[in-house]
Amino acid sequence: MNIAIVGTGYVGLVTGTCFSEMGVDVTCVDINEAKIKALQGGVMPIYEPGLESLVLKNVEAGRLHFTTDLTACLDNVSIVFSAVGTPPDEDGSADLRYVLDVARTVGRSINKYTLLVTKSTVPVGTAQKVKAVIQEELDKRGVTIPFDVASNPEFLKEGAAIKDFMAPDRVVVGIESDHARKLMERLYRPFVLNGYPILFMDIPSAEMTKYAANAMLATRISFMNDIANLCERVGADVECVRKGIGSDTRIGKHFLYAGCGYGGSCFPKDVKALLYTGKENGYTMRVIEAVEEVNETQKSIVFEKVNKLFNNDLKGKIVAIWGLAFKPDTDDMREAPALVVIDKLIKAGAIVKVYDPIAMDECKRRIGNQVEYAKDMYDVVVDADALSLITEWKQFRLPSWKCIKRLMRGNVIVDGRNIYDQEEMENEYFVYSRIG
Ligand code: UDX
Repeated sequence: MNIAIVGTGYVGLVTGTCFSEMGVDVTCVDINEAKIKALQGGVMPIYEPGLESLVLKNVEAGRLHFTTDLTACLDNVSIVFSAVGTPPDEDGSADLRYVLDVARTVGRSINKYTLLVTKSTVPVGTAQKVKAVIQEELDKRGVTIPFDVASNPEFLKEGAAIKDFMAPDRVVVGIESDHARKLMERLYRPFVLNGYPILFMDIPSAEMTKYAANAMLATRISFMNDIANLCERVGADVECVRKGIGSDTRIGKHFLYAGCGYGGSCFPKDVKALLYTGKENGYTMRVIEAVEEVNETQKSIVFEKVNKLFNNDLKGKIVAIWGLAFKPDTDDMREAPALVVIDKLIKAGAIVKVYDPIAMDECKRRIGNQVEYAKDMYDVVVDADALSLITEWKQFRLPSWKCIKRLMRGNVIVDGRNIYDQEEMENEYFVYSRIG
């Protein structure tokens, strides 16, 4: 089987690499020449555990190729996946420019049956727009060539994307024809051999499934953050409450961790896009509006706690930060709570020192020298008045508190992810504050 994947971002690259690992001949396409050159030379554009070795292996096996020329590879493939970006417009709607550009190229250049599968997260109704654009281009050429469109949303978690793709909880595919169904069934067979379901449905339902899944997960997080904030006020412990409710199988224990807010490339963008789709259709998604509002406030909570512990006077105080990425095992800082905390600390006159195992370059690229970059997790606390944990990287879980106490000049620790033990911290004579 020969397929093309357009877009060598995080989703496209993982998808293409995993299909090639199963023996499919995959051509990954991107308009960004520098990115393609780098990939051809074995340099990854993103950090994702396990990705680099899998790419190198499949390139060497001759099953994985990189090109900037989509038109040239269309004669050799039966399926084209579109995994291009859908950045949010100012009003929160998804910008479909790149998705429709792919459709246009396909319509202009195919000479035989082609199935165009949208993998990017797109609003309900996009597949119909994609279909119309392809048809329009075929009409302009005055040719009749059969084609199908399909929707195949991804549910990959950054940092666990390879594992998620290889052993998915489910694969969701929206189709309109039997032929498209057969092609997708064949392509995904190796991934669902262990009984994981491949769920076929109509295209709008597949498109909606992706938004509903992300909005539900974001809702759980904002719900727990809301509960955590109330716990603090009534003297309850959100960690006990989490275990208490998570043991109910109807609720389940995953995604109930209170913290300093969700970030990343998906939740914030998809929540906004869903709100926009609601508005466009004359419906206000009230729950989702609240989810977003709670998250916006929660992203400042670490700052609020530090500020309060210093009686609203952070001028000249040195605040160290552990973790910059929006979550562990990635260098991604899109919508990261750390950015909000850093900004507020600087505005309050604090001196901010940061450390992250992977995201230091990304942070430099985003905010330059507004903060001091430390060389490791101990170096960053030297002379600090306070230490704030924002991203729960594993290496931050069991630090040497003795050493930290020696290095810091203050003793305030604000834990934005509830990974430390209250009693242990207080025994070490830290002023310890966490969420909920
Ligand atoms: C998410 C979805 O999980 C994935 O299915 C979808 O395809 C893309 O969006 P990702 O953005 O990689 O994946 O991150 P995820 O691990 O889901 O975490 C998202 C954010 O929620 C992080 O900022 C994380 O810190 C936060 N989070 C997660 C919590 O605050 N509490 C939790 O209990 C879980």
